[in-house]
Amino acid sequence: MKKIAVLTSGGDAPGMNACIRAVVRTALYHHIEVIGFKHGYEGLINDECVQLVHQSVANIIQRGGTILKASRSLRFKTEEGMQQALNNLQKHHIEGLVVIGGDGTFAGAIALSKKTNIPIVGCPGTIDNDLVGTDFTIGYDTAINTVIEAVDKIRDTAESHDRVFIVEVMGRDAGLIALRSGIGSGAEAILIPETKNDTQKLIERLSKSRKNKSSKIIIVAEGDESGGAYQVAEKVKKQFPQLDVRVSILGHIQRGGSPTCMERVNASLMGYNAVQALIAKKQSVMIGIVNKQVSYTPFEKAIKHIEDLNPDMLQMMEILSM
Ligand code: F6P
Repeated sequence: MKKIAVLTSGGDAPGMNACIRAVVRTALYHHIEVIGFKHGYEGLINDECVQLVHQSVANIIQRGGTILKASRSLRFKTEEGMQQALNNLQKHHIEGLVVIGGDGTFAGAIALSKKTNIPIVGCPGTIDNDLVGTDFTIGYDTAINTVIEAVDKIRDTAESHDRVFIVEVMGRDAGLIALRSGIGSGAEAILIPETKNDTQKLIERLSKSRKNKSSKIIIVAEGDESGGAYQVAEKVKKQFPQLDVRVSILGHIQRGGSPTCMERVNASLMGYNAVQALIAKKQSVMIGIVNKQVSYTPFEKAIKHIEDLNPDMLQMMEILSM
């Protein structure tokens, strides 16, 4: 293998840079040339690429975002776009491709792999942690730490004013950010897409909750069936007019910031192993870390969202937030 390419696609995630750095330096160690396509699959179509050398990835391990930039490419879903991408891979004599991203990225990789023999290996990069085959995706740890830092601050003011705060976090299809940050911030309840009738359960819970609790934090995943924090706040206010309710939507701050140490180490391990996997002739697999061991999950399996969250975590959340 003489030359590979790397790209980051979908929503960016803290730790992607650490992963790119590991891909580049591992490849160069093995005397493999590396180019980076910018803006994900869109850059592959537009032939927007850069040569990556040791210096190109210096001083990026601590930076959020992605130096290669990212996008959600609609053109890559068309015959024309795909063909253009294939032409560019051939033009640059690419013998292996590393894609860093989430389920959309891997769905794109599956489509691409049906049209070419160039092996593709993936690294899980999404703050949502909604991929099968890894304990933590790149970005998740930093995002949940950002959330608890924000919620701790909200708790200070909530406590001073005896208020209820409905905090909306990211997670279009998955409640994993809400679950872990809910436990970590001592939230009173979480509302997530994986469980049903959460708003009704919340109302029941609030009517039974300890009278001497002055503040309450409710975490809602954006993809919850309730429709989001404003809708939940409306229902809570209607049921409990005496409560002073406020809404806080954390939004895209969850996607930025300097990656945590765990993130940097995991992302480095994944990037390093992605190149080793290409050298070992593996293809169409996502590199993950499960119980501290490197694992390889076929793209088709990786993109199946975890439907049922760990019930122990959910039960613990309920007991501890009494
Ligand atoms: O990266 C995943 C994610 O953060 C989802 O949780 C969220 O719904 C989505 O991206 C928003 O992405 P964008 O603003 O880029 O469309």
